[in-house]
Amino acid sequence: MTIKEVCEKYGITADTLRYYEKVGVVPPVTRTKGGIRCYTAQDIGWVENAICMRSAGLSVEMLAEYVRLFQEGDSTIPARRALLMEAREEIAAGLKKYQETMDKLNYKISRYEEAMKTGILTWDAPKERRDFQMEFITLNNGKKCPVIGIGTFMLNPAEAENSVREALKMGYSCIDTAAAYCNERAVGRAISASGIAREELFLSTKLWPCDYENENAVNETLERLGTNYVDLLYIHQPAGNWLAGYRLLEKAYKDGKAKSIGISNFEGEYIAELETKWEIVPQFIQVEAHPYFAQDELRATLDKYDIKLMSWYPLGHGDKSLIEEPVFVKLGEKYGKSSAQVILRWHTQMGFAVIPGSKNVEHIRDNLNILDFTLTAEEMAEIAKLNKGVRYYHRTDEQLKGFAAWHPEYETK
Ligand SMILES: NC(=O)c1ccc[n+]([C@@H]2O[C@H](COP(=O)([O-])OP(=O)(O)OC[C@H]3O[C@@H](n4cnc5c(N)ncnc54)[C@H](OP(=O)(O)O)[C@@H]3O)[C@@H](O)[C@H]2O)c1
Repeated sequence: MTIKEVCEKYGITADTLRYYEKVGVVPPVTRTKGGIRCYTAQDIGWVENAICMRSAGLSVEMLAEYVRLFQEGDSTIPARRALLMEAREEIAAGLKKYQETMDKLNYKISRYEEAMKTGILTWDAPKERRDFQMEFITLNNGKKCPVIGIGTFMLNPAEAENSVREALKMGYSCIDTAAAYCNERAVGRAISASGIAREELFLSTKLWPCDYENENAVNETLERLGTNYVDLLYIHQPAGNWLAGYRLLEKAYKDGKAKSIGISNFEGEYIAELETKWEIVPQFIQVEAHPYFAQDELRATLDKYDIKLMSWYPLGHGDKSLIEEPVFVKLGEKYGKSSAQVILRWHTQMGFAVIPGSKNVEHIRDNLNILDFTLTAEEMAEIAKLNKGVRYYHRTDEQLKGFAAWHPEYETK
């Protein structure tokens, strides 16, 4: 065969063929006929070998080395074998990558095909999320709330967006925010970017006292979150005209804009008063709760109405003395968990929903992975010994007045 014929048959250029000869991938072709180089069957074999190995991903250098060894004779068989095995590993790794790329492409194509049928573009969750098994609490209206969520207090918009985005990849479904955290838009962006179907999520937010008399407050919070309903809507503080705020919740509940409603920081006299005035019993209360302060007194009222408790400061707002209590260190060693994970498991076994806040992706992951062990009754009793009624946060009447007067600067974009 002439160069032209070889090039035509194998779809390569004469330059490539010459280059292969130059670098030794194809032994030099010496036979000529009428001055034209002529490829014998053996030469063609080398060309085919080169094309096949190169298209499979073998480097030119490796191929040249292989040809050189081959020409040296049979004594190089072990070296040739070793070289091919090395090449095979490289090619296998390349194939795996190709396969992954193919899978991604096929997946994307299938999502677009689905969207062309339904008009809705959704993305499946990452494997880590798909593999995670959540536990749920059943509320007094029959709805279900995941036992673990992510809190976003004191996270700026960029931090909140990042934490929620990462949390959603891992398997979180419950997100707690508040108008006053000024990160509702960021939370909304993370949710929308996740592609997770809205009904799979449990989103809770809170109205701040300055909005308790604002008839449009619920719509405004929904607009910031980029959703047309929340799963749980709280009034954040028993400050200002909180009864008007509670009526907003009841209306939102009836309108389907809040699937459940809740009160936050209503302890003592406030819950006693609300109890006489509510038309709809709330599903949740969100209050400070942790092993130092297990809300024993409040829980007696909650039990009467089957109102669930969602703990804030579940890790004592990161307090080292709580996290490093010897009992948690000991139990952590027993179960192969961190002390923080043991504390969070205590919350869920107390029947609380728990929403630890974090900017740290490893903490966020740890905080979710607490459902694969169970503290024994004796261990729960040992932890109960820490419950000395000690709070971190002491609210005063003056502060409540300040809350009523404060107008948070909600995000505008
Ligand atoms: N209704 C209310 O009035 C009210 C008040 C306060 C809070 N809340 C809600 O409750 C949520 C929880 O409260 P919170 O965030 O203030 O306190 P928290 O969850 O008790 O503690 C958060 C702190 O603990 C650290 N942390 C988180 N996971 C950890 C882990 N696995 N190991 C060690 N440290 C860890 C965090 O630091 P890294 O960032 O480094 O992880 C952060 O400093 C809030 O985010 C908010 O949604 C509501």
